[in-house]
Amino acid sequence: MNMIELKQVSRRYGDVQALAPLDFSVKQGEFVTLLGPSGSGKTTLLNLIAGMVKPSSGQIFVRGVDITNAPPSARGLGMVFQNYALMPHMTVFDNIAFPLRVRKLPKDEIRRRVTEVLDMVRLPDLAARKPKELSGGQQQRVSLARCIVYNPALILLDEPLGALDKKLREQMQFEIRRLHARLGITMLNVTHDQDEALSMSDRIVLMNEGRVEQIATPDELYRAPRTAFAASFIGTANLIAGTVQESGGEHIVVSTALGMLRATRGVNGVSRGAAVNLLVRPESVRMLPATSGEEAQQEPRHAGTLEDSITLGSVVRHHVRLPGDMQIVVQQQGGRHGAAHARGAPVMLDWAPEDCQVIAQD
Ligand SMILES: Nc1ncnc2c1ncn2[C@@H]1O[C@H](COP(=O)(O)OP(=O)(O)OP(=O)(O)O)[C@@H](O)[C@H]1O
Ligand SMILES: [Mg+2]
Repeated sequence: MNMIELKQVSRRYGDVQALAPLDFSVKQGEFVTLLGPSGSGKTTLLNLIAGMVKPSSGQIFVRGVDITNAPPSARGLGMVFQNYALMPHMTVFDNIAFPLRVRKLPKDEIRRRVTEVLDMVRLPDLAARKPKELSGGQQQRVSLARCIVYNPALILLDEPLGALDKKLREQMQFEIRRLHARLGITMLNVTHDQDEALSMSDRIVLMNEGRVEQIATPDELYRAPRTAFAASFIGTANLIAGTVQESGGEHIVVSTALGMLRATRGVNGVSRGAAVNLLVRPESVRMLPATSGEEAQQEPRHAGTLEDSITLGSVVRHHVRLPGDMQIVVQQQGGRHGAAHARGAPVMLDWAPEDCQVIAQD
């Protein structure tokens, strides 16, 4: 069964179409992330589901029940926000116990449940502290504990990790995934951090200017983006504009500023004369010194100039300038097996047609 289902849901603010009519569903137990740049409509979508914002059109169902006009408190959802919103004068224990006291649970039951969730978020010894005596990551875990303590079937998270440093953020991502797997709670998470979306989600809803650009698993989104926007938002994309010359054979032939290039079909319905983009990921490009005597394995090879190389831990990124003022990013393994090249050196690039895919032009 679908935990959440949206039918033609949209939201306008005056002239601003914050969200274009959207169909979308989340299955029970799924971890789905809304990903997109600032202003793309992520919080609007989350708030529509939470009931903080009313839709301009459409219907929202939770477990098959139409809750479009239900108040937030009647929806039975948990919400975790970016700012922890803990009550400063209460201890950690009382903060977490709060939603249970509101629900008038017996005292023993409250103590048992709070102790259990404090264990789950790995803060068993901090029950007596006040929020200001905790680190940001610990406060974040308390907010999460306060949310899971009353067993909501669905939790909405709006950039809850945005304020944390990278290391803590990765640790919390892991904690949330662990809780998700253990408790089977359906989670809908908002972020503009692509790494977070890729590492945590069963599926990603990629949003752009109030529209859904693509809904796919992290792997699909990286390997088979449908648009140039999706290709560039997830990872790094080399995009080469061109016009389809032949589309009937094993490979599609596209005429580009780099000459005729062979590519595989990324999108359907590519016909002769269509304006397309070719996508080549940096790790699929091979770079050799121009003087290398190595036999060409792929044709064509592209002569260029190495502009700079940046070491990113285990990998090295090279920026190569090709004729026609085109820049191609190349990623290679670093360490002692990686080849060193001088800045300004002439180099040769090539890639396999299988690693060059046709996507739509935006
Ligand atoms: N209450 C409001 N009144 C008018 N316009 C609004 C309101 N809330 C949001 N918007 C507009 O709707 C669009 C989507 O906003 P939303 O907050 O959903 O974006 P977002 O994807 O969450 O962005 P961010 O990553 O910056 O949080 C934006 O253009 C925003 O200015
Ligand atoms: Mg937002």
